[in-house]
Amino acid sequence: MSAARMKLDKLWRRGREFLGTDVAIMGGAMSWVSERHLVAAVSNAGGFGVLACGSMSPELLAGEIEATQEMTAKPFGVNLITMHPRLGELIEVCGRLQVGHVVLAGGLPQAASITRAKELGAKVVCFAPTVLFARKLIRIGADALVIEGTEAGGHIGPVATSVLAQEILPEVASHVPVFVAGGIGRGEAIVCYLEMGAAGVQLGTRFVCATESIAHPNFKQAFIRASARDAVPSVQIDLNFPVIPVRALANTASRRFVDFQHEVIGRFRQGQLDQKAAQLEIEHYWAGALRRAVIDGDVENGSVMAGQSVGMVTREQPTADIIDELVEQAVGALRDREPAGVTV
Ligand SMILES: Cc1cc2nc3c(=O)[nH]c(=O)nc-3n(C[C@H](O)[C@H](O)[C@H](O)COP(=O)(O)O)c2cc1C
Repeated sequence: MSAARMKLDKLWRRGREFLGTDVAIMGGAMSWVSERHLVAAVSNAGGFGVLACGSMSPELLAGEIEATQEMTAKPFGVNLITMHPRLGELIEVCGRLQVGHVVLAGGLPQAASITRAKELGAKVVCFAPTVLFARKLIRIGADALVIEGTEAGGHIGPVATSVLAQEILPEVASHVPVFVAGGIGRGEAIVCYLEMGAAGVQLGTRFVCATESIAHPNFKQAFIRASARDAVPSVQIDLNFPVIPVRALANTASRRFVDFQHEVIGRFRQGQLDQKAAQLEIEHYWAGALRRAVIDGDVENGSVMAGQSVGMVTREQPTADIIDELVEQAVGALRDREPAGVTV
């Protein structure tokens, strides 16, 4: 093993030990995309796959976990959305099937959810949007944190990964392992965050076009064609009608969403709808849209969630090659940091 590779292993040792993997790269859960095939492929390639539960029932989740366990003997995690109406049952399923890591996403989790998942033997990973939340999550039992910047695909916060990393890593990285997500497309960037104190990273967009990903060929083609500036947040037109920001490729559906909001708010102003009903109509606009794009391949009328690193997705590649490439780039960056004449 080269000295630069040894240096990389040392830099992300904490993350590797926490995940039980060769490399501290998490394949971020992506609803509809992160099912058994991609998750097993990421874990088999030495990374850490994370199953996306999304809106699955406890029964469906159990089937998906078992199917993934048949495809890999390596560790993988399960991502649960905290506002799922059957969250408690989903946590029990993870416990019964001895899932090693539960990732709680989509809002601040209740302390009771974290405690129960830990009682059942899982390590719990939570998303920290600010230093204050990071501290609170650690206090209520989170074993590790993900900080995810606005460059990411899917639901996003307002702050860039580079800023979150500077704000949060110095404050909490000595207490729990922190994984950085959002906009990471190359190994050089991974090294930067590790050197700032991260234990590892989480990537989503970069894995969508993995050969093992079941995303529809149209979905993959849209990724391969797109550049960073095509991956834009959803637009909100009125302060009184909040829209949860989601980063996705601009398409017919995202353009029509603006007209749709004007039309619904117009009906509200004419007294045809009350505020609550209007808000619900706006929220419902995207129902089923991710599935329509990922599974049915309708990339114009569906939601093509993608992060800004989509410009670095240039072809379909086996998952193992994507991970190898990231590791090679990271090793190359470390080698380049050595003074001339010193071979590492
Ligand atoms: C298509 C898509 C679907 C996603 N779905 C989820 C999800 O269901 N739950 C979640 O916690 N994060 C979800 N994410 C976020 C990823 O897990 C990951 O954190 C993010 O993609 C990392 O940033 P990157 O896209 O810049 O690599 C999704 C991302 C994408 C691109």
